Amino acid sequence: DDSNPPFYKRFVGGKINASHNCLDRHVEAGRGERVALHWRGEEGEERDITYAELLAEVKCFASALKEQGVCKGDVVGIYLPMIPEVVVAMLACARIGAPHNVVFGGFSAEAVRERMEFSEAKALITVDGAARKGKTAPVKDRVDEVMGELSTLETIVVVRSKGTPCEMKAGRDVYYDEILAAAERRGGSDCPAEPLDAEHPLYILYTSGSTAKPKGILHTTGGYLTGVSATHRYVFDLKPETDVYWCAADVGWVTGHSYIVYGPLANGATSVMWEGAPDYPNKGVWWGLIERYKVSILYCAPTAIRACIKWGAQWPEQHDLSSLRLLGSVGEPINPKAWLWYHKVIGGERCPIVDTWWQTETGAIMITPLPGITATKPGSATRPFPGVQAKVLSESSGEPVSEGQGLLVLTHPWPSMLRTLYKEEDRFIATYFERFGNETYLVGDAARVDSDGYIWVIGRIDDVVNVSGHRLSTAEVESAIVAHPDVAEAAVIGQHDEQSGQAIVAFVTLQGDLQGDEAEIESIREGVAERIGKFARPKRIIWADDLPKTRSGKIMRRLLRDIAEGRALGDVTTLRDPAVMGELEGRVKELQAQES
Ligand code: WTA
Repeated sequence: DDSNPPFYKRFVGGKINASHNCLDRHVEAGRGERVALHWRGEEGEERDITYAELLAEVKCFASALKEQGVCKGDVVGIYLPMIPEVVVAMLACARIGAPHNVVFGGFSAEAVRERMEFSEAKALITVDGAARKGKTAPVKDRVDEVMGELSTLETIVVVRSKGTPCEMKAGRDVYYDEILAAAERRGGSDCPAEPLDAEHPLYILYTSGSTAKPKGILHTTGGYLTGVSATHRYVFDLKPETDVYWCAADVGWVTGHSYIVYGPLANGATSVMWEGAPDYPNKGVWWGLIERYKVSILYCAPTAIRACIKWGAQWPEQHDLSSLRLLGSVGEPINPKAWLWYHKVIGGERCPIVDTWWQTETGAIMITPLPGITATKPGSATRPFPGVQAKVLSESSGEPVSEGQGLLVLTHPWPSMLRTLYKEEDRFIATYFERFGNETYLVGDAARVDSDGYIWVIGRIDDVVNVSGHRLSTAEVESAIVAHPDVAEAAVIGQHDEQSGQAIVAFVTLQGDLQGDEAEIESIREGVAERIGKFARPKRIIWADDLPKTRSGKIMRRLLRDIAEGRALGDVTTLRDPAVMGELEGRVKELQAQES
């Protein structure tokens, strides 16, 4: 239904349930004994979970959630590491029509609280502790420190994963295994999937935008499942009977939602799920997993490939990677050097690479080669997936560019399109449809089209930075930095980085005549870790007596980016105090000299 752009609908009047499509359908068709997940823990623990087993646990947990008072339409937060229970939790929510709101495990408890507050979550499913390269990080206790005042949150379900001691608040907190067992005793194993409208919300996923407040991307059911299952099947040329597929992302990001959970399960695929980091217990752990499970399709981020290049080819060379037949890349532009290494060292020069461009908002892959069909060029995501209409528009005229650079837009609605920003409809329109009207979705990326019509995505045009494939807003980091009592002002930019794609650089002015030193740097970085998460800590902090501002007081981040990238400075005449620039340039050069 496209009668009211940009509020598009799909399959209006149709009924569907995502958990039924991902589980019951396969079991009913006699595929219950197929392994859905080969889960592997950090210390070598192993669980092979079949479709029948996954369905049984999802039914019980769905029934347990209902017993806890979770109803159709209630938002349920999920803050879990890469353990099978995260998949169970998501599908159990889908089964009863409770939209889930998953928060990546690398976010801090404070970031979780904010996301629970914005979405008015009724329940939160979390864990006692999480594996962190041989150590255990307490999770539930951290959550407790910040969650106290949240009145909408009635229930916290705790998965006992590592046995980390934690306090349980009477009347609010329950153990996952206990409510699961109780549901089983009550006959919860028959919890049928609720027939839901095709447009029923499946989930909210918060992502970063131009301001400090994250955007709640809302996806619904029918169109989303269509998008993720079709792209998962065609882009990865999936043969569900024989392939072993591994998406090495975290479930907490959209890549995990679409290509660990919904796409692969809807297609009845067998997947690998790895609990830990790529370098623990050693830097060859990924390649060991590929050999062990005979993985045939690997989907990961360029940043991981660049890390492997740095660690050296001796790690993958110790393993038999001959099961691989297809490689995928996602999350950031893949530089040609990383592409070629991936092709040679990992793919043995026989595996096609699909460089897939998409976003949390698009729900599914939008621009990508199709293996065996599209001739690839290292560094280009090539062409739109069939049915997708992408254009590059000139920044000045707004007209399509036939060859050259401009703004990437999508000019036709697609099934897995975001439906709105949760509780922020005006922001939805302003962010994506103000610039070119209600029928042209503004992506937020700059791109180049070449003479063959291939699209090369360059990077964000807004204040979003991409650090190791993690999407962050500079405003979010700034707001975390200025919350520090010693800080007067801060401006954050993304700087090109060999390893992580972009690195966060913060220009900071301290209060009064405080002097910046190493201890202050650590304290500011710690503050960012607490408010957002460790992955958001600035790589560099540059002390500034003043920041470049216009006469009206607006910080000119563009000039800071120029300094950081060592570019000739643009126009500085509109600055209130042009001398500020010379001083900052000196500081940046000093820091660069120290680092090299
Ligand atoms: C970037 C991740 C170049 C882009 C799925 C986009 C890419 C943002 C690619 C979305 C790619 C993603 N080539 N850039 N293949 N894939 N991006 O929402 O800037 O976390 O707008 O979704 O990542 O990040 P998000």
